[in-house]
Amino acid sequence: MRLLIAVLLVVLAAAEDGSRAWLRYARVPNASSYRFLPSSIVALNSTSSSPIYTAGRELQKGIRGILGTHININGTAKQGSPSIVVGTVDAYQKIYGDLDEVEDLAGDGFFLSTEGRNVVIVGQNERGALYGAFEYLSRLGQEKFDPVAYVSNPHAPIRWVNEWDNLDGSIERGYAGPSIFFRDGYVVDNVTRVAEYARLLASIRINGIIINNVNANPELLNSRNIEGLGRLADVMRPYGVQLGISLNFASPQRFGGLDSFDPLDPKVDAWWANITDKIYSRVPDMAGYLVKANSEGQPGPLTYNRTLADGANMFARATKPHGGIVMFRAFVYDNHINPANWTADRANAGVEFFQHLDGKFDDNVVVQIKYGPIDFQVREPPSPLFSTLRKTSTAIELQVTQEYLGHQCHLVYLAPLWKEILEYDLRADDKPSKVKDIISSERFKRPLGGSAAVVNVGTNTTWIGSHLAMSNLYAYGIMAWDPSVEPDEVLQDWIRLTFGFDRQVIETMTDMSLKSWPAYENYTGNLGIQTLTDILYAHYGPNPASQDNNGWGQWTRADKDSLGMDRTVKNGTGNARQYPPAIARMYENVETTPDNLLLWFHHVPYTQRLKSGKTVIQHFYDAHYDGASVAQTFVKQWESLEGKIDVERYEHVRFLQTYQAGHALVWRDAINQFYYNLSEIPDEAKRVGNHPYRIEAEKMSLSGYKRYAVSPFHTASGYTAVITTSNSTIGIATANITYASGTYDIAVNYYDLIGGKAQYQLDIGNRTIGTWTGDLEDRLGHAPSIYLDGHSATRITFRGVKVNKGDMLKIVGRPDGIEPAPIDYVSFLPPGLVD
Ligand SMILES: *[C@@H]1O[C@H](CO)[C@@H](O)[C@H](O)[C@H]1NC(C)=O
Ligand SMILES: *[C@@H]1O[C@H](CO)[C@@H](O)[C@H](O)[C@H]1NC(C)=O
Ligand SMILES: *[C@@H]1O[C@H](CO)[C@@H](O)[C@H](O)[C@H]1NC(C)=O
Ligand SMILES: *[C@@H]1O[C@H](CO)[C@@H](O)[C@H](O)[C@H]1NC(C)=O
Ligand SMILES: *[C@@H]1O[C@H](CO)[C@@H](O)[C@H](O)[C@H]1NC(C)=O
Ligand SMILES: *[C@@H]1O[C@H](CO)[C@@H](O)[C@H](O)[C@H]1NC(C)=O
Ligand SMILES: *[C@@H]1O[C@H](CO)[C@@H](O)[C@H](O)[C@H]1NC(C)=O
Ligand SMILES: *[C@@H]1O[C@H](CO)[C@@H](O)[C@H](O)[C@H]1NC(C)=O
Ligand SMILES: *[C@@H]1O[C@H](CO)[C@@H](O)[C@H](O)[C@H]1NC(C)=O
Ligand SMILES: *[C@@H]1O[C@H](CO)[C@@H](O)[C@H](O)[C@H]1NC(C)=O
Ligand SMILES: *[C@@H]1O[C@H](CO)[C@@H](O)[C@H](O)[C@H]1NC(C)=O
Ligand SMILES: *[C@@H]1O[C@H](CO)[C@@H](O)[C@H](O)[C@H]1NC(C)=O
Repeated sequence: MRLLIAVLLVVLAAAEDGSRAWLRYARVPNASSYRFLPSSIVALNSTSSSPIYTAGRELQKGIRGILGTHININGTAKQGSPSIVVGTVDAYQKIYGDLDEVEDLAGDGFFLSTEGRNVVIVGQNERGALYGAFEYLSRLGQEKFDPVAYVSNPHAPIRWVNEWDNLDGSIERGYAGPSIFFRDGYVVDNVTRVAEYARLLASIRINGIIINNVNANPELLNSRNIEGLGRLADVMRPYGVQLGISLNFASPQRFGGLDSFDPLDPKVDAWWANITDKIYSRVPDMAGYLVKANSEGQPGPLTYNRTLADGANMFARATKPHGGIVMFRAFVYDNHINPANWTADRANAGVEFFQHLDGKFDDNVVVQIKYGPIDFQVREPPSPLFSTLRKTSTAIELQVTQEYLGHQCHLVYLAPLWKEILEYDLRADDKPSKVKDIISSERFKRPLGGSAAVVNVGTNTTWIGSHLAMSNLYAYGIMAWDPSVEPDEVLQDWIRLTFGFDRQVIETMTDMSLKSWPAYENYTGNLGIQTLTDILYAHYGPNPASQDNNGWGQWTRADKDSLGMDRTVKNGTGNARQYPPAIARMYENVETTPDNLLLWFHHVPYTQRLKSGKTVIQHFYDAHYDGASVAQTFVKQWESLEGKIDVERYEHVRFLQTYQAGHALVWRDAINQFYYNLSEIPDEAKRVGNHPYRIEAEKMSLSGYKRYAVSPFHTASGYTAVITTSNSTIGIATANITYASGTYDIAVNYYDLIGGKAQYQLDIGNRTIGTWTGDLEDRLGHAPSIYLDGHSATRITFRGVKVNKGDMLKIVGRPDGIEPAPIDYVSFLPPGLVD
């Protein structure tokens, strides 16, 4: 019995549910070869809310896990055996004397030395020392045992995350369950998960967090919630993570009962000063505010004919006495622009709204700019606002949450995308002007700067809904600290810490991750056309038509002959001119515009030749086939790791990769079918619209099922699917198999809607090959759709099925709720073939 319990405890301790992320502190294989094992930790602060105290406990915990040794904090060191000393520069020097190296330390920076008698970890401030402790543990956890001594300083002071959590506990664009911060209108009582999140953030040197949605609810400011903010800040403080909040611009009216929220009205100003004082009295170290104003229906200063700077400065005045800062989002645009107007362009909005305000913002305001001029698309050029604002502090806004990039259900390692943007040289005044040096405040010598990433963690143990997607959170923090790091190296550090040292694991995961963004770009939207998703609904599956003919301005301007946004000066929206001259010249000219942004800047015929020699339309077809086919290989690659990864994480990732492989085909076919329909130019390789391995459901013998014309049409093979005739009728679809006898992978494409869990059974001959339930809405971590469309379209595959010519194929569908057991088609795929 006791043995059994012991075994159970070991198993439980090893449960890999993702909650420990990269801080697993797993025992390293060669722990015994670490010769310099210290025998005590000296943490130079005994206040339990101090990050130094946290650092001491973290070192103890990490060393116990990684090396399997327990060492005391502030115990007596074994004779002749070194200590790990962690503290601020001041505290260290008081006891141990001067340290030359620390002269180079900047705010939040640390010095780590494993060369001398003791391991020395000193921070410029308390938070910096904690970063140094995490760095030391990261090195140990990767068996980087060689002696080192170096200073590490942040590239920029602002390294924040944004959470888009609502007070009711839901999360806008969150794919990992409900909020860890709010529930039923209030800050949660149980803040354990918040402390764990702060720990994760501290380990990647994130120093600020905005905990609520930019579409903010003024009720955040009620007394109970302010008290709650205090509790949240209290549990994050030991990790050096400062809390901040998003504000609703109209709060003085909607919450405070004033008759106005005019930023120049002294009453309003006094109201903000008052509530700000109240918050700071509970959260004295609050980082500051984030404000989304006059954007997508949100109130703002323009309501009163005041400028955006007037609006931002109102908050700046309120927070200034407390040392707080105001992140003011540049995401301001008119979402009712006229698509018939050839020169109208949402991409111009940032510069148009902010250029004339340059220099008018208070010095504790930072304008937070999305990386591209539109909205987190799979590829955009950097926002021209970065090179436009010279007298204003700026920060870049990135997304870890994959709003337009597959909702964490598709593997997309984002560090390479961010790297391209950060290293992009905008050539302001014909001088080196990399985006990373603009946001660090170095290029234009501004007081503040940095980055913010929308993360949207939830209560799911995986934090963001997928084990592999956590590489993005890790990479974000590391790159915010040091943008010069290489995406593959950051990734491999993360793999070693998260999955261990197996070479095959490291190589396979690296290969998958580095291919993932190009593959996703290939099968969603290439050549700079944007992610061709449904922008009016879920931002998930394909719906290229949704981009055009509405006021949102994410236009592709696709017609029968041509597509792309003409952003040239000579015949288009003039957007190219918003960039500094060298860049503007490049984008103005179709010849010098790189292929991957061709359709972002130019409107061209489908037959336009790319630099590769292919036509635009043939490139679309080929890229969609190539990208979708790479997504199939991810499944095989992952499966090659079976046994090398714990079952829990292996199975969850396998489930997601299998799902992605199916959905990549949905994307491929929908986009290709759409442009083939429009252009009527056939695919040279004759793949588009030609699917010899498919049996369309609507062509089967139907009983209790009826044909259904899917919308958008291109999200169904043959434009049509079948659904049950009512939500209480069982549907049966049958067909005679005319393929040659042999072994096939049988794939069924169906639609999995929110609002029902239909059940299916697939029979071949008299054998039941499989049964399944349409319950992906519970398993994928995102809510797909209540319709048959590109969000709900999915595939299930049964591998290696023996089939005899003449057997009957039969699918029985039991509807549930609003889900009418929809089926699109069944494929009989000879081994190795995917279509
Ligand atoms: C450890 O000892 C140092 C001085 O030797 C002291 O400053 C510090 O507060 C102590 N830390 C803890 C956690 O007790
Ligand atoms: C110890 O930590 C507390 C909390 O962070 C801080 O207020 C105090 O100044 C620190 N003491 C020293 C000597 O650094
Ligand atoms: C608080 O949440 C943690 C983590 O989710 C959980 O383990 C713990 O039991 C909860 N505590 C209470 C009192 O509910
Ligand atoms: C400030 O707020 C308090 C309540 O928190 C209220 O009693 C007081 O009147 C307010 N003062 C001003 C100037 O609005
Ligand atoms: C803002 O200005 C416009 C035109 O200049 C005017 O029609 C409108 O009444 C003004 N609005 C407010 C709230 O002052
Ligand atoms: C078209 O849009 C441009 C740029 O916003 C604007 O200047 C112009 O007035 C618009 N033309 C019409 C006819 O509305
Ligand atoms: C120039 O703009 C017009 C719309 O004003 C458009 O119809 C035409 O295709 C454009 N010409 C070229 C060469 O892009
Ligand atoms: C993307 O598509 C291009 C063009 O078909 C192809 O050359 C490239 O290999 C593809 N890459 C991936 C990762 O899908
Ligand atoms: C299948 O074949 C049988 C016998 O040849 C025939 O009776 C039946 O109608 C066929 N069914 C379908 C769905 O074509
Ligand atoms: C299916 O089963 C029925 C009766 O159970 C039998 O008559 C028929 O031959 C079987 N068909 C096949 C293809 O095995
Ligand atoms: C986390 O999310 C995954 C996918 O949505 C799901 O399978 C799993 O049950 C969730 N786990 C928890 C603890 O919520
Ligand atoms: C079946 O559909 C009817 C009419 O659309 C609806 O009222 C009913 O709630 C549905 N049944 C279920 C179980 O959802």
